[in-house]
Order: sequence, then C-alpha cells, then structure tokens
Amino acid sequence: MTIALSPTRTALVDHSLRVLMAGQAASGAFVASPTFATYHYAWLRDGSFVAEALDRFGETEAAARFHAWVCRTVLKMRPRVERAVAAASGGDVAAMLPTRFELDGREESGEEDWPNFQLDGYGTWLWSFAQHLRRTRQVARPHELEAVELIARYLDAARDQSCYDCWEEHVEHRHAATVAACAAGLRAAGDLLQQNAFRDTAVSLEQILVRDFSRDGAFVKHDGSTAVDASLLWLALPFGVVAADDPLFLGTVARVERELQVPAGGVRRYLGDTFYGGGEWVILTAWLGWAHHTAGREHAALECLKWVESTATASLDLPEQVDTHPQSPGHVAEWVDRWGPSATPLLWSHAMYLTLVDELGLR
Ligand code: BGC
Repeated sequence: MTIALSPTRTALVDHSLRVLMAGQAASGAFVASPTFATYHYAWLRDGSFVAEALDRFGETEAAARFHAWVCRTVLKMRPRVERAVAAASGGDVAAMLPTRFELDGREESGEEDWPNFQLDGYGTWLWSFAQHLRRTRQVARPHELEAVELIARYLDAARDQSCYDCWEEHVEHRHAATVAACAAGLRAAGDLLQQNAFRDTAVSLEQILVRDFSRDGAFVKHDGSTAVDASLLWLALPFGVVAADDPLFLGTVARVERELQVPAGGVRRYLGDTFYGGGEWVILTAWLGWAHHTAGREHAALECLKWVESTATASLDLPEQVDTHPQSPGHVAEWVDRWGPSATPLLWSHAMYLTLVDELGLR
C-alpha cells in the first residue's frame, strides 16, 4: 500500500521534532511539558522515549545529550543509589530512587505527597540507552558503564518490590509494565556489561510475567488484577519481553482495543481512570497503532495515526489526553480547575507520534 505524505503530516512531524528539541534543557534533560507547570520536571520514562524518537529521526546528538545527563545524574547520586540497593529488600519506599528530577538533575523536592518511587523509568532508560548505542553504532564508555551498572544493581535488588506504576498509582502492587521495563533494562545492562546475572534476572522476570501477570489469554495490569491497562502494549513494543505474535500478547491487544479504545477514537489508560475524566491518550493510541502495524493490520494502524493527528491544536501541539469521551465526566472540571487543561504540548505524545510515523514507514 502506498500512502502519500500529506502536507499536514509533514508539518506535524517537523513540529514534533521542534517541540522535542526545544524541550531539551541545557543539561540534556527533557522537560515533560514546557507549558504545564506541574510537569516542569524531567521524567526518565518520558525522556527515554523522547531520546529514542529523536534517534529514529537522526537527531542523535540530542539523544546523546540526554543519555549523558542521565549518566551524570546517576553517578552524582551514587551514595543515594548504594543506600537504595541496601534498603531494597526491606521495603523502605522512602529510600528508593526518585522518578522525577529538576531539569538540572537535582532531585525534585517540591511535592511531598507526590508519588516518586517508580522502577520502570530506570529500566526504560537502560533499554533506551542500549538502543541509542546500537543505532549510533557506538560502544559504551567506562563512565557510562558505571552508571549502567549502578542502575542495574538497583533494579536487580528492587525488582520484587511493589512500587507506583507508570501512572503514579497503586504503590501496593507490582505492575506488569513495570516488571517488563525492569526485564528489558536488565537484559540490556547484562549485554552491555557482559554480566549473566543481570540477564538471568531478566529471564526470570519474563517468566514471572507469564506466570503471575496473565489471565485467560491476556496479560493483566497488576498482580491479582483481571483488568487490562494500555501500558501492557509496552511488553512487546518496545520491550520485547514477549513476542508481538505471542497469543498472550495478541489477546492483550484485543482486550485493549475492545475495552479501552473509544470506537473510531483514542485509547484510555484503564477502566476506572478518573484523571482528567479518564480520557483518550495520544501516546497510547500511537502505541495501539504500532501494535496493529506489527500484526499487519495497516488500516487499523492508520486509523490510530489519523486519530492522533486529529488531536493536534491549531499550532500543531499534541496534548497528553483529550476529554471528548471522558469515562468519568464528573472529574474533568476538577482537574482542569486544579492544574489547567491537559498538558499540551506533551513531549512524550510528540515522541510516540514520531515513533508511529517511523514504524509505518511514512517519513
Ligand atoms: C503520567 C506519567 C508521566 C508524567 C509526565 C503523568 O501524568 O502518569 O506517566 O511520566 O505524567 O508526562
């Protein structure tokens, strides 16, 4: 099938690259959203996917600056990491590493009751850094390997801990997408460091995912749950802890499509979401498009792409989510009153748009 690159698509691709590049601080960190005060921080998760998208579009220098920032930040907090490694088995959440940073690499200190213990960002960074090296045909330098090793030891020690999920919720559970990020990160670290122990942990996490995080032919959101969450798409794409044509993954995609996608529309995070009314997320719709494309469902993939494009504002910014079909309408105003309209532009949304465009071969 030949698909013309429409002027709108070219403009949105160009604008997306500009948003990502402009969102990079002098330090190399990426702000989550430049215009949304609450997101004026750097998340390892968001930044890792942004760097990966930039690499896909040849902006490898910017991606390299991000990875250099992470390495510096990690090495600077070495004593903190060592304390976290030692404390990991004791369940001391306060001792664990933060998920958000100030743009200069300091730990975000403002909000005491804002969940900050999430493991997935560290796994995602290890995965993304290894991808960057592969794409740019480089080998890791000694100080980079030191940072990789520190983070891999942290994940290895903390891997069985429950923690906040990628949405900053449910600290009492272990989450499938988090376990997958840890597995992918440890596999990447094992390969970079040539250390079988990390590879072995990755394999055991992959087995745990199938054993404890699947039910009736699909993966589930967290331990003990029967529900799906759109972040489960990450298990295969990009983390590869399960093959994209594995029946369990295909069953998961089918449930996400059936339960979380608004007909001919976008994808929600999970049923029962009330954040900004629990609307449709740009990143997750791009992710479903990616899954469809991988399964050879080009029409469905393109529909996802077009939906993502339809959410762009007049100035071509992509939001975090839209509230055209909120599952909990009563909660929309509450969040808008508290923080303003949904974060726009969100760098991660632009990054996943670019990723889908690239996957579909539309550049
Ligand atoms: C999401 C996180 C994300 C952060 C910054 C939060 O609302 O739950 O997944 O990393 O925003 O984009």
